[in-house]
Amino acid sequence: MKTIFEPFRIKMTEPIRITTKGERIKKLEEAHQNVFLIDAEFCTIDLLTDSGTGAMSSRQWAALMMGDESYAGSKSWKKFEATIKDITGAKHVFPTHQGRAAESLLALTQVKEGDVIPNNSHFDTTRANMQFAGALPLDLLTDEGLDPENEAPFKGNMDIDKLKNCIAEYKERIPFCMITVTNNTGGGQPVSMANIKAVKKVLDEHGIPLVMDACRFAENSYFIHEREEGYQDKELIDIAREMFSYVDAATMSLKKDGLANIGGFFICNDDEWAEPFKNALILREGFPTYGGLAGRDLEVISVGLMEALEYDYQVYRHATVEYLLKKLVEKGIPVMRPGGGHAVFLDAKRFMDHIDPLQYPGIALVNALYEEGGIRGVELGSVMFGQIDDEGKEQASPLELVRLAFPRRVYTQSHFDYMIEVIEEVWNKRKTFPGYTIVKQPKLLRHFSCHFEKIK
Ligand code: F0G
Repeated sequence: MKTIFEPFRIKMTEPIRITTKGERIKKLEEAHQNVFLIDAEFCTIDLLTDSGTGAMSSRQWAALMMGDESYAGSKSWKKFEATIKDITGAKHVFPTHQGRAAESLLALTQVKEGDVIPNNSHFDTTRANMQFAGALPLDLLTDEGLDPENEAPFKGNMDIDKLKNCIAEYKERIPFCMITVTNNTGGGQPVSMANIKAVKKVLDEHGIPLVMDACRFAENSYFIHEREEGYQDKELIDIAREMFSYVDAATMSLKKDGLANIGGFFICNDDEWAEPFKNALILREGFPTYGGLAGRDLEVISVGLMEALEYDYQVYRHATVEYLLKKLVEKGIPVMRPGGGHAVFLDAKRFMDHIDPLQYPGIALVNALYEEGGIRGVELGSVMFGQIDDEGKEQASPLELVRLAFPRRVYTQSHFDYMIEVIEEVWNKRKTFPGYTIVKQPKLLRHFSCHFEKIK
């Protein structure tokens, strides 16, 4: 049979509020034209993020009841630690309340003023944490990863020549290099095993540790299974194990491939990294056997990590991305290709080509999708990644994307059919949507809270 269906039945439902266009225009005005500031209740289809928004399985709900809430050395911690060691082979495992807490403690303990941190592409919280510690975060993605139409299979790969040049220029200032799987900010594109190995080899020549941002390691494992020679007969868990075998440490947001609503971890092999991390963890997050999580969260995550590595689940998950992507491509709507692991990325630069990058075509598209159909997406473009140059002038981001992130196991095919209808409607009248200016913004992570105004 050709039909790929959800490999689960639905046991519990959550109502969705159907809103009118008038209501949505008003909500957007009240939110200063920033969809982050709209109440979730008024987002009919909420594709803001795939982070912490997934549905738990019956096995996870059952595990939740087994939570051991002891402060130190709980049974739930033991299970969490064993599961993560099984997948990663790491010597030290530390729970954190989410991914950015792991990043922030890594920055606190291993990064100093003037350091340089290479990555294929930093996620915004990673970038901000490194900058906050006084370091310069650098993105060393391959050029094909920057081309939304290039159909290369591993567009999340780090460019090895760029890495070599970066080391030649900054060697003494690089405490570690990162690699993000899948590459969220570059379209959820995968990193190949060959690339991880090649990065590690270059770093080893200079004694620089490799840290993986492993948020979507299971989706990346599936891509390797499907696209990289030699992996077709392997289990996803073995692919994941191999990926982790090449890294010295990793941060992870368990709100993604942990299939949990909260959680994160830091793992490492080096005792000299573990000790200061542990001390910082106790100060900021909690005792090392719970690290800011409840025992029940640790239980849920232990089950979720293994479910994320189930092949049929990944087949279905990737089929949902492909379904939406294929329909949009058929209608000539510009999208990032090939499909990412957790999202479809609309190419706002081509979609809203009448809007200058510094008038934020991505925001124009995000807001149009909300107004037309109550779909909440997120801009990954000049608002999220724009930089201020030395003369204080705003620089546009190389990519202007709008991410429609898919919560895990939440929406069904008719939700996707509705999205397709809304996106097509916006596409058909795209020239009627204006650009935006920012009228109020904080210094860091401005996209979360800045205020916009439509350019008249
Ligand atoms: N790294 C990557 C690649 C991420 O995508 C995220 C979160 C984080 C780190 C931080 O994890 O949220 O648990 O603190 N990404 C979410 C998103 C927020 O919408 O892409 P966190």
